[in-house]
Amino acid sequence: MSIMDAVKAEGMLPERYKSLTVSEMKERIRHIKATLGTKLFIPGHHYQKNEVIQFADATGDSLQLAQICAANEQAEHIVFCGVHFMAETADILTTENQKVYLPDMRAGCSMADMADIFQTERAWVELEKRFGDTIIPLTYVNSTAAIKAFVGRHGGATVTSSNAAEIVEWAFTQKKRILFLPDQHLGRNTAYSLGVPLDHMAVWNPITDVLEYDGVDEKCQVILWKGHCSVHENFTVANIESLRRTEPDRKIIVHPECSYEVVSLSDDNGSTKYIIDQIQSAAPGTKWAIGTEMNLVNRLIENHPEQDIISLNPLMCPCLTMNRIDLPHLLWCLESIVEGAGHNMITVDDETSEEAIAALDRMLQRP
Ligand code: 13P
Ligand code: SF4
Repeated sequence: MSIMDAVKAEGMLPERYKSLTVSEMKERIRHIKATLGTKLFIPGHHYQKNEVIQFADATGDSLQLAQICAANEQAEHIVFCGVHFMAETADILTTENQKVYLPDMRAGCSMADMADIFQTERAWVELEKRFGDTIIPLTYVNSTAAIKAFVGRHGGATVTSSNAAEIVEWAFTQKKRILFLPDQHLGRNTAYSLGVPLDHMAVWNPITDVLEYDGVDEKCQVILWKGHCSVHENFTVANIESLRRTEPDRKIIVHPECSYEVVSLSDDNGSTKYIIDQIQSAAPGTKWAIGTEMNLVNRLIENHPEQDIISLNPLMCPCLTMNRIDLPHLLWCLESIVEGAGHNMITVDDETSEEAIAALDRMLQRP
């Protein structure tokens, strides 16, 4: 079922939730959490709003949340405060008896939507014709369950921004070439950091079905899917140049979903967890410009008054799809669990799950 079909099937937030006060909603959520106890588990991604994060039982980046869900055996209801692909991953990694919900079915990810399974199957046929059996597929977890299943079926693995380098290194021990879905930037930044020259990387354009590559086929080591994050593409070289002119002593740290040019001009880069760790361990008074989603940057500003933190792009907006999860949707989802209606449940079919688990396990079982 597509995300739009799921939204149609589940309907939108009922009117009765739109007139509640914040304190009413908080009180009702607290009450449900206390009643359900460990039968309920609420994981929250670092990009979620504070109004939601305050109720999370665990917060983390994509890797941490996948690991935490895989390890949780007691929760009957997992209400995932993140985006659709994260809830799908949680459903794949938990048992039959554990139900996973996404409080608002419209919380998708524009990057994950940039690789559909039909495009991927078509690309694979063309790439195998051109390069033979020399390619292993890897997919960023920011992808649909169908793409993870495709990757699992072809011997590949998932990656997150926390472990991409390690998984890419492993992939090169398996095959001569990598197809990296769906984020060209994470793929390029990671491969480059491991010593793959830029001119050994091609780009697969899924709209035109064309391999964009000027080099000699023999030298091509990485095939990057032409997808990107619409949030992180808003951090630009112009932002960095302007900051370097006005505040040369401000450290710039960005997420590797930013372009190669932005990452290479920055002082440091890493996953959301890595960014948080760097801020937490820095000396008081350190000046930072952070290139990642605004809810996280604002939370770091609030939690670290001893540091001087700004967003790398002063006009940055939050990830709009992540932001669809809010207090009214969280309350609606929780109350529907209590009433037995179970709105907004995420279910990945068994066949897709089995193949996707192969890809996820190859990642999670690496130390
Ligand atoms: P991480 O949680 O892996 O840093 O990913 C960021 C992101 O964009 C999630 O959608
Ligand atoms: Fe997707 Fe980017 Fe939003 Fe993450 S920040 S959910 S990659 S659109």
